[in-house]
Amino acid sequence: MRDKTGSRSVGFDRRAFMAGVAGSALIPMPARAVAEGAQSPTAQDPTLPVDVTLRVNGQDKRLHIDARTTVLDALREHLGLTGSKKGCDHGQCGACTVLIGERRVVSCLTLALAAEGQEITTIEGLATGDRLHPMQQAFVDNDAFQCGYCTPGQIMSAIACVKEGHAGSDADIREYMSGNICRCAAYPNIVAAVKQAAPEIMKG
Ligand code: FES
Ligand code: FES
Repeated sequence: MRDKTGSRSVGFDRRAFMAGVAGSALIPMPARAVAEGAQSPTAQDPTLPVDVTLRVNGQDKRLHIDARTTVLDALREHLGLTGSKKGCDHGQCGACTVLIGERRVVSCLTLALAAEGQEITTIEGLATGDRLHPMQQAFVDNDAFQCGYCTPGQIMSAIACVKEGHAGSDADIREYMSGNICRCAAYPNIVAAVKQAAPEIMKG
């Protein structure tokens, strides 16, 4: 998948990635030493659970998780935030898109450990009380969803698309939203929604 956003992993295979994480190249030196027969009092098994604190939608969440847990699984399985959807689990559909800082990322390819100390914003964190975020409202106003499965990822990506300055034309919006797949093909209405919300989001 092309990387117009800086957030997609081009040709990245999740299975190979996870295998890599568990492989010797990424095991800290003390653990490698143990694996190779030397004894070390500081050796750690990389498969053991670790403590991590994630800042999600303005709140710190302390988790005790497998070090290989992705942000998506931490959100859905450990924190009960099921708005971010698991589509492909391979970084290819965009359904799991969240913001980490200002950047949109596919959370199925992002390790929770790597996100520690950064602000994670999910679809659950957008509305203010009963008031929808302008992009959420624009999706409703423009019928920019059908089944809605891709919609949380589309909305998170659309917010970043606007903030990145890529909502100046229909062609730009299509290009910079191309990492988010909608099997219902709601694309024309998604473009209309992004155009509607862009001025309000840019106002801040
Ligand atoms: S579920 Fe993450 S990109 Fe498809
Ligand atoms: S609205 Fe159904 S997948 Fe996009």
